Amino acid sequence: MHASSTLVWTPGSWKSLPAHQQPTYDDQQAVAAVLSELSKLPPLVTSWEVDRLRQQVADAQAGDAWILQGGDCAESFDECRASNIASKLKVLLQMSLVLVLGSKKKIIRLGRIAGQYAKPRSKDTETQGEVTLPSYRGDLINSAPFTPDDRRNDPKRLLQGYARSAQTMNYIRGLSEGGFADLHHPENWNLDFVHGSDTAQRFQQIVNSLGDTLEFINAISDSPLREMERVDFFISHEALHLLYESALTRKSIRDSGWYNLSTHFPWIGERTRQLDGAHVELLRGVRNPVGVKVGPGADPQEIVELVRRLNAENEPGKVTLIHRLGNANAEEALPELIETMQRAEQKVLWVCDPMHGNTVSVESGKKTRHFEDVLGEIKASFAVHRDCGSYLGGVHLELTGENVTECVGGSAGLTEEDLETAYNTNCDPRLNYAQAMEIAFSIASEIGS
Ligand code: PEP
Ligand code: CO
Repeated sequence: MHASSTLVWTPGSWKSLPAHQQPTYDDQQAVAAVLSELSKLPPLVTSWEVDRLRQQVADAQAGDAWILQGGDCAESFDECRASNIASKLKVLLQMSLVLVLGSKKKIIRLGRIAGQYAKPRSKDTETQGEVTLPSYRGDLINSAPFTPDDRRNDPKRLLQGYARSAQTMNYIRGLSEGGFADLHHPENWNLDFVHGSDTAQRFQQIVNSLGDTLEFINAISDSPLREMERVDFFISHEALHLLYESALTRKSIRDSGWYNLSTHFPWIGERTRQLDGAHVELLRGVRNPVGVKVGPGADPQEIVELVRRLNAENEPGKVTLIHRLGNANAEEALPELIETMQRAEQKVLWVCDPMHGNTVSVESGKKTRHFEDVLGEIKASFAVHRDCGSYLGGVHLELTGENVTECVGGSAGLTEEDLETAYNTNCDPRLNYAQAMEIAFSIASEIGS
């Protein structure tokens, strides 16, 4: 086995390194056939888009932009539906409008969408009563129902995942290009179920004042505001399944290097960010901006080494560190992480994920998150970055445009009993519309202050 620091990078160089959280398949011929097909299909995004996003992440590092990253914990193939996709876009567009107006900065919209189909699991198996079966690893690998057939890893799912991602991306592209995304018509982003709620009214006030401003600008300007009629919307997912990710890792057609063209922004999860591990090896060779999740147990010096491995040239925009320390740990653990990175003079963008360090189980066994912890970690992170002379440049949220009851708290006062009403997540609990908007209003005042 090699140490990755001495390896020459190729799209397959990760294969000689330890790879965590990978599914095993019974039929190797079927796997080979699927990968051969996958590697011939067209990419889902282009190298030009990826370069544009890397430049925007560099702008965020310089303090001129802010990233709003959000979506499901795990997408499912069955939920690849127009209404689901549009609702998610609506929430992210509403939130980004609140953030733009509060911060006066460019907001980079980055969905956890169009490929978020593979999940790391803490256990390989799940036991219910007398029966033990393989864990559900996401729709890219197996299926959620607790039957032997559903839980069997099926390589054909890699092609289905590619197709679902392409279908989702196609609709997102259409919606972002005009009409729906037009800032002159933010009423397109209203969600049916929120009519009359406090959050909807608060958003409406913003829309009304924006309408006046746009009318004014239109009146004094000869050219229509084309830039207001469309939005940039980028996609991201955890680059977990290495065979899938490397089949979509391609040399760009203009010879500007290698890119993971399954998504604009792949990230490495907390469980697979080993310095000499396969995930870091695969992503160190691509031009994409790359995210790395950093949990409370991380050794700051090791994170510096990791950033160096991923970004040997210390290029702006390349690495985003997404800290997910938990509300109870953020104030304690974050300063050392930031200061160690500052001493190493490594360029990174800091993003706060206030979800994954704040998951708790309630008596019924359901996982939830307290809104107060989510907001608390965001506020603590802003304060620590400010104290350290650093810049918090984004947030990473699990949220949905559906009217779910998965996280407790927030101004609607959801309780543990409410978790029984609309708990629909395939994996971790997500913020619902009102909770997500409340977070956006709070962040806007933090960035603006
Ligand atoms: C996730 O983002 O869904 C996830 C599993 O996060 P982490 O790797 O930070 O635990
Ligand atoms: Co999650």
